[in-house]
Formats: sequence, structure tokens, C-alpha cells
Amino acid sequence: MTGGAGGIGAAVVRRLAGAGLRVAVADLDEASCERLARELGPGEGFGVALDVTSPRSVSLGVAAAERALGPIDVLVNCAGWDELRPFVESDEPFRARVLEVNLAGPIRVTHAVLGGMIERRFGRVVQIASDAGRVGSSLEAVYSAAKGGLIAFAKTIAREAARSGVTSNAVCPGPTRTPMLEAMARADERGKKIVEGLSRAIPLGRLGTPEDVAAAVGYLASDEADFVTGQTLSVSGGLTMA
Ligand SMILES: NC(=O)c1ccc[n+]([C@@H]2O[C@H](COP(=O)([O-])OP(=O)(O)OC[C@H]3O[C@@H](n4cnc5c(N)ncnc54)[C@H](O)[C@@H]3O)[C@@H](O)[C@H]2O)c1
Repeated sequence: MTGGAGGIGAAVVRRLAGAGLRVAVADLDEASCERLARELGPGEGFGVALDVTSPRSVSLGVAAAERALGPIDVLVNCAGWDELRPFVESDEPFRARVLEVNLAGPIRVTHAVLGGMIERRFGRVVQIASDAGRVGSSLEAVYSAAKGGLIAFAKTIAREAARSGVTSNAVCPGPTRTPMLEAMARADERGKKIVEGLSRAIPLGRLGTPEDVAAAVGYLASDEADFVTGQTLSVSGGLTMA
């Protein structure tokens, strides 16, 4: 579980642990990962520092998680990062960072884990993408491109791994109350207005919660979803439809 220390990530960790899975909590901040892993109980969780932008960190982190808890049957890629910025004002380092964290990173982690799943003929891969990747999102051009790429990646892995007992799906949160969204709303007047506007536009009348997203991930990781692969599930209160 990458990004396990974050708003949505921590809710997914608790959800999967509640369903009886032992969960490796991987994120940049080792102390937060270890705290959350301890909360799950002895032997139920494992905290590991992992930077999805570093090939070495990913291979060391995946190996450590497998040594601690055994082979990875469920992978949830939740690490993500963005800042609201008009595309024309963005620079090369910013664009490279957004693509690394949100697209190359999840691809790298999937590559580190998928081979084992295919060998064991079982696996569940869930990418936390975004509705930005389906319908676009003002001031998030490169992030939207990365998340759109992640959705296409999830579909292709679904095709390649289907005969090996591995499913691959993408969950697309709409605006969800987490530190990432709160940071955007706090950053400046423009960010605040965007977040307020989104909240008003949501048909179900509220922002999403991390638990709303975690419930969708829990379903896709469960036996109930054995026959569901290559799908893109929006959890957005109806902000996006179809
Ligand atoms: N909050 C929303 O409204 C929203 C909407 C759509 C999609 N999402 C997606 O949901 C996911 C979780 O977002 P969140 O809102 O919980 O944000 P968050 O900032 O609370 O959590 C993101 C987590 O990713 C971790 N992370 C960032 N860069 C990393 C790296 N290089 N390696 C490992 N971990 C890294 C952070 O440390 C953090 O714990 C992200 O992929 C985000 O793009 C969020």
C-alpha cells in the first residue's frame, strides 16, 4: 500500500486490515507508517519507508514488506502529489516531478510486484487515479495527464494479467477531504474558490471522505470483485457520471 500514511491511504489501510489482510504501509515518512502499522496490531501491519520515484527505494521497500508479511497479494498504489498551477506557468522540474510521483512511480511499484502475483496465479492491483484523469481538472494539466495514463495502464495490465488470476482496476476519487485537498484550498484565494465551487457542484451535496474511497478499494480487493477487471470506478458523489 503506497501513500499509506496519507488521508485516503490511511483509510484504505484500516479498511483492508478490517477485512483481515495484513498490510504493509509504505510512504515517504517512515515514522507515520510505523505508527499506523502498530495501530493494526502485532504481526498485522508493517511500516516501511518507500519513495515511489526511486527504483532502489521501491525494490528495497517491496523486498522488506515481503520479508515481513509474505508475498504481496493486493497492491494499492495511492501515493500521489500535485499543486494547482496554470500549465503555461509550469516549469520542467515541476512537470517531471508530477509525472514521476503520479505515473512513473505507480508503474514502477506495479512492476516490482506483478511478476510474483502472476507466478502465484493470484493478485489484486488497484491504482488510485483521479477523476482529473477522466474529465480533466483546471490547473492540474500534468497531474490529469498522469492520472489518465494510470487509468490506461490499469486497463492494459488487466488484459495482460487476466489469464493469470490477477485483476487490475482504477479508483478515481472526486474531491475528497484530505491533507492534499486542504493544502490546495489553503494555498491561495484561487485554490479556495476552486474547492468551494467543487463542493457546491457535487450532486450528493458534500465532499468525499477517505472512507468513501476506501470502501471502493475494499470491494475491488475482495473476493466479491473476482469477476471485475479493467474498470474505472469514480467515487465522486456524482460529480462525474458515465
Ligand atoms: N484528495 C482528493 O481530493 C483526491 C482526488 C482525486 C485523487 N486523489 C488521489 O488520491 C491519492 C491519495 O491522496 P490524498 O488526498 O490522500 O493525499 P495525501 O497528500 O493526504 O496523501 C498522499 C500520500 O502520498 C505520499 N507520497 C507523496 N509522494 C510520495 C512518494 N514519492 N513516494 C511515496 N509516497 C509519496 C505522501 O507522503 C502522502 O502520505 C493520491 O494518489 C491522489 O492523487 C485525491
